Amino acid sequence: MSRSRTNSGAGELLVELRRDSSVPLHQQLESGIRDRIRQGLLRADVVMPATRALATDLGLSRGVVVEAYQQLVAEGYLVSRTGGYTQVAPAAAGILVQERAAGELGGPPRIDFKYSKPDVSQFPRAAWLRSIRKMLNETPNRSLAYLDGRGTAELRESLADYLNRVRGTSARPENMLICNGFAQGSRLLLQVLAAAGYRRLAVEDPSDNELREVAVNAGLEAVGVPVLETGLDVEALERSGADVVMVTAAHQFPTGAVASARTRAALIAWATKHDALIIEDDYDAEYRYDREPIGAIQGLAPECVVYAGTASKTLAPGLRLGWLILPCRLVEQMSDAKVRDDRGSPVFDQLTFADFIARGEFDRHLRRMRPRYRRLRDALVGRLAEQVPDLVPIGVSAGLHVMTWLPADLSEAAVTKAALDRGLGVYGLAPYWVDAGPGGLVFGYGSLTESEVVEGIDLLADAISSLRR
Ligand SMILES: Cc1ncc(COP(=O)(O)O)c(C=O)c1O
Repeated sequence: MSRSRTNSGAGELLVELRRDSSVPLHQQLESGIRDRIRQGLLRADVVMPATRALATDLGLSRGVVVEAYQQLVAEGYLVSRTGGYTQVAPAAAGILVQERAAGELGGPPRIDFKYSKPDVSQFPRAAWLRSIRKMLNETPNRSLAYLDGRGTAELRESLADYLNRVRGTSARPENMLICNGFAQGSRLLLQVLAAAGYRRLAVEDPSDNELREVAVNAGLEAVGVPVLETGLDVEALERSGADVVMVTAAHQFPTGAVASARTRAALIAWATKHDALIIEDDYDAEYRYDREPIGAIQGLAPECVVYAGTASKTLAPGLRLGWLILPCRLVEQMSDAKVRDDRGSPVFDQLTFADFIARGEFDRHLRRMRPRYRRLRDALVGRLAEQVPDLVPIGVSAGLHVMTWLPADLSEAAVTKAALDRGLGVYGLAPYWVDAGPGGLVFGYGSLTESEVVEGIDLLADAISSLRR
């Protein structure tokens, strides 16, 4: 065995030890060395520093170092050589990197029904470029300074006009705030609400799981409230003791339910009665294929509702452009929170988007995309009916995803695994439940072609029949 690469000089092994920690020093040393070996930072056959030298270097007794080395030898990370020196075991070096590479070799599924991807290949580059040009030619220097936390007046005006026209909101530019997607808008909002004394957030069950974590990090308690075919179960909301609720009323994620007029009225009555707040995540309302979308709840009760919108489904998630319509009482705190967080969203992007909307390009883009997504949805639903008729889609014809329940003889884990073996990505409902619920699948189709959708469902049918054989 070669002893050519050495690492024996004092100060060569950087391991951070926390003497105030309750974890014993030999364990801290072990895990420091183990991590470096796994990450490939200590490579195969590297000779470890002599125990006495390392002990002096780190201010430890030699016994602590000996104990750590012995443990790592026992685990197979180090090899003890005759001659009294210790080397990094070749089999262990860089295993994390190898695991990652192996994962990448396996690669992403050939056809992937992962949700949340719109077709970014259709991004309206030419029209966006025209707006960039105009904006760069016309933007006065003063607009390039730090701005109001709510964002540029131009975008707030364009968006307020657009949303009032298309979504039936009651937005005034001064009540709007531009943020980096729903992710930032909802995080800041939940932080501001927690600071203002709100305590318990009700979320739809099932729903987007990331939000619950954000709520808990903000100091709120998150509770699940069931979703019915007519939207959130407002009687269960009443019992939940929540003082704020998050709803995807126009197209519930992931079930696809639409809140009925009665549910929307009951939500507003609940908020009024308890002085509570409704957060309306209107993430994909622009895509409704069989009839006009229902108007936003915000338009019915602007002082009870925070409306949240995003360009992530309509244009591209990478734009990181989102917006909130706020009740008057939250405007100042939210504007301050946005300034504290990042000093405001990038001005050029906001001004470009403002011009893009004002020129009618946003409407044009949506008119072009709607029939494309509708064809994809029809292909998906049609092929499911032919090939796997017991996976019945639920929810309205809208958005960029479809959900089905799974028959009782199929588990999500088995179906997703059998699909992956065929190069197909399908995804279960499990992560979206607050309180565990029945199995289901959520299919995102936004970024696929029609033939991929059809082939994907054929692969799924094959996967399911293999499980049933
Ligand atoms: C329910 C829901 N709301 C909002 C969003 C948009 O988030 P963002 O604007 O941060 O991209 C998503 C994205 O997938 C979503 O699933």
